[in-house]
Formats: sequence, structure tokens, C-alpha cells
Amino acid sequence: MEPTELERVLRETSYTGWRRQEELPRLIVSRAEGCRFYDAQGRSYLDFASQLAATNLGHGNAAVIAAIAEQASKLQYVQPGFGTEVRAELQQELSRVLPAGLVRYFWSTSGTEAVEAALKLARLATGKPKILARTRSYHGSTAGSISVSGDLRRGPLEGLHLVPGTLWAPDCYCYRCPLKLRYPSCAVACAEEVERELAAHDDVAAMIVEPVVGTNGVIPPVAEYLPRIREITRRRGVLLIVDEVMTGWGRTGAWFASELYGILPDILVTAKGITGGYAPLGLTATTEAVFDAFRERYLPLGHTYEGHPLLLAPAIAALREYRRLDLIEKSRLDGAFLLEELRALAARHPSVGEVRGVGLFAAVELVRDRTSREPMNRPDEKLAGKPTVADEVATAMLADGVYVMSWVSHLVLAPPLTVSRAEIGEAMRALDRALELADRAVRPAVTQP
Ligand SMILES: Cc1ncc(COP(=O)(O)O)c(C=O)c1O
Repeated sequence: MEPTELERVLRETSYTGWRRQEELPRLIVSRAEGCRFYDAQGRSYLDFASQLAATNLGHGNAAVIAAIAEQASKLQYVQPGFGTEVRAELQQELSRVLPAGLVRYFWSTSGTEAVEAALKLARLATGKPKILARTRSYHGSTAGSISVSGDLRRGPLEGLHLVPGTLWAPDCYCYRCPLKLRYPSCAVACAEEVERELAAHDDVAAMIVEPVVGTNGVIPPVAEYLPRIREITRRRGVLLIVDEVMTGWGRTGAWFASELYGILPDILVTAKGITGGYAPLGLTATTEAVFDAFRERYLPLGHTYEGHPLLLAPAIAALREYRRLDLIEKSRLDGAFLLEELRALAARHPSVGEVRGVGLFAAVELVRDRTSREPMNRPDEKLAGKPTVADEVATAMLADGVYVMSWVSHLVLAPPLTVSRAEIGEAMRALDRALELADRAVRPAVTQP
């Protein structure tokens, strides 16, 4: 099909998530290789977001592609009640990279489903209905998972398609402290709010956290926060679900961010990088203690494509590629380099309020005023489908050949872990140029008479 015909067919026949339906596809992508993808006209784009923080191994990895082809020629699908070699092999490998104690695995086909399974397992295992979640979080798009998400995307579903029973805790977001305190004199009061909430409710099954908030700002917590949350939840008999859909598989410079912050969750959820985005796979991993609750009980959970061989085979290959290419350590080192580059760039642009990150996972937060920290845009503007300044910056970068993600008032940078320093430099130059747009939206300083 010609590019214009392609665009017409897609426009007239698609639903596309998280946007106004009249919007056109931003690009029509034909192929991808390494850290680059190409549009229908053959124009090249540097993928500085791993699409949606998924293609951690870059595009076109030969080992992962071969694993899919080999599995396809041997066994494509069997129902999940049958065992398979590929499942046994992957589960054996997994126990070597996941945080210690996560030894039981439930398979699904997305991060959302993996979260949904975690919530169901936690509620069934404890017999308690409530979940404590945080106000800046995204855990998925189905009724259960979006009900524990503090993301603006839950807004249109209020009163229509949400599951009751979510309690809220503040985030560990020092740049905009929800408690209006300052670290370290705050003594990590945001974690103490969890203690208060759990003391007030004895029907909480689990607390769910993104160890580093992803879409809603790439916010690494202070070092004491997650260990304190772990201590509180353990003491109060509340399960801790760690959502590592984005932060897993080297994104933060460790196999999993749980490891980075020294915590052992009861349930860990992951997807995206587990196959490097080559196949849609979700994993819910639990401790033996959680599994014990089901040993002699019927498990009301399952999917036709649970443990699908064509999804598991690329996960084995991906895991070996992360190891062979030493990508976890590379993410840590190149992440530090990226952050330094971003700091240098922030110094030149008044629209940048803060840059932060860990591993190859970073955010550039845009403000109208550095002193008051007034955000560049509001969540309701994003929901109304109006391009935010961050969207305009990302659009300018795309026109300049570099793809990054944008949200309400920040950009998310999450290149494949295989990215080169030269490619990081290329992205920084495009960002430098595009930030001039944001600088123009900064409020002029008021001069004193
Ligand atoms: C932290 C987190 N949890 C869950 C999800 C949902 O995953 P999926 O889009 O694969 O359903 C996402 C997606 O971006 C995510 O970032």
C-alpha cells in the first residue's frame, strides 16, 4: 500500500488507546534495527524511549528472533494445563535473576494482566478486599488495575468502570513534596503516612508501588523510603506488590529496582523488557508463602494464552542477551552519563525545573517558573487532548529524528540499554534544540520597581 492509502485505512478502521480518536497516527513505522526505527518514507528515528520502555535490547536482536522462530517450528501452542520444556527452562532461569524468594510464576500477556493477577492473588490469599496504592502511579488499563492507579487516565472512568477498595498514600516526590516538607528534615514522613493508613484499616490485602514511578515522572525515591515501606507492610501483615513492569530488566541499572533499594517484595509484577518487547508477556511472581494459601485451593485465575510457548521462548533468549551484553551494568554506567548530560543541558534552559533518573531511565520536568515550580501544564489539559508543552517538545524532537515520551509536564527518556554514547549525544542535541520551545513558555521574570 502507498503511505497515503495506509494512513487512510488506519484512520478509518482503528481504535487507538489513550488519545482522541480523531488524531492521526504520529508515524507509520515500517522497520527497525538497533536503536533506530524507520517510517514508510525510509526516514530514520532514534528510539530514545524504547517505544514504551519495552525494547530494552534494541530492535532486531538476532538471538531473540531466532528463539521465536525455533519455538514456532517445534511447538506453537498448548493449553496451560499441559507443561512445556520452554516453561520449565524459563522458570529455572528466572529464579536466578529475580529478587530472592520469588519462586512461583503466573504467566499472562501484559503488564496490566500481571497486575490484575497480583491484586487477585493478594485479595484471595489474605481474604481482605482493600489495596493501598499511591497517588502518582500507573498500574494498567483494566478495571482492577486502573482502580489502583493514581494516574489521570482513571478520570473518565470514575463512577463507571472502577473497582472499589483503593486507599491512597502520598508519593516520595521530593521536588513537589505532597506533604510540603523537605528531605532529610522530613524524616521520610511520606512513608509514615503508610503506617497511619494501615493503622486505620485492618482490611488491607496489599500495598502496590512502582519502585521508581515511571510514566508519572520517573521519580526515584530517597534510599530509606522503600525499606521503611517494606518494614511497615511486613509488620502489619500486608503484602507488598512491587510493579516492575517498567523498572525491571536493567532499566534502572539493576536487574530489578527492588534490588537497587534492598527490598524483597511478596509479589513482583513485570512485563515489557522481559522479552525486550519482542512478544507480549506478563509475569506475576510470588513467594512460596503466598503460594501456600492456594496449595489446597482452587485458583480462580487463568487465560487461554497463559504460558504461551511463543512468548516464553523469547524471554529465555532476552534474559541471556541481557547477561551476554552486560546490559545491566551498562545501563548503570550510561545512565550516570545521561544524567550528567541532562544536568548540563538543564543549566542552559530556564524551562527545566528538574532532571532526575536512575539507570537509563530519566525525566526532564518542565516548569513555567523555576522559583515557584509552577508546572508547565495541568493533567486536565492533557486529558482534554490539548498538546502540552512537553508534547510540543517531543513533537519537535520527532521532526528532528529523535523519539521520546511526553506526559503532562515532563519528558521520559528511556533508550534501549544497547544505546551508544554517540546516540545519547545525538538525543541531547535534539533535546537542546527542542527545549527552546519550552523556554518560550516560561513566565517572564517580574522586575521589582
Ligand atoms: C508501571 C506499569 N505497570 C503496568 C503497566 C501496564 O502494562 P501494559 O501496558 O503492558 O498492560 C505499565 C504500562 O506502561 C506500567 O508502566
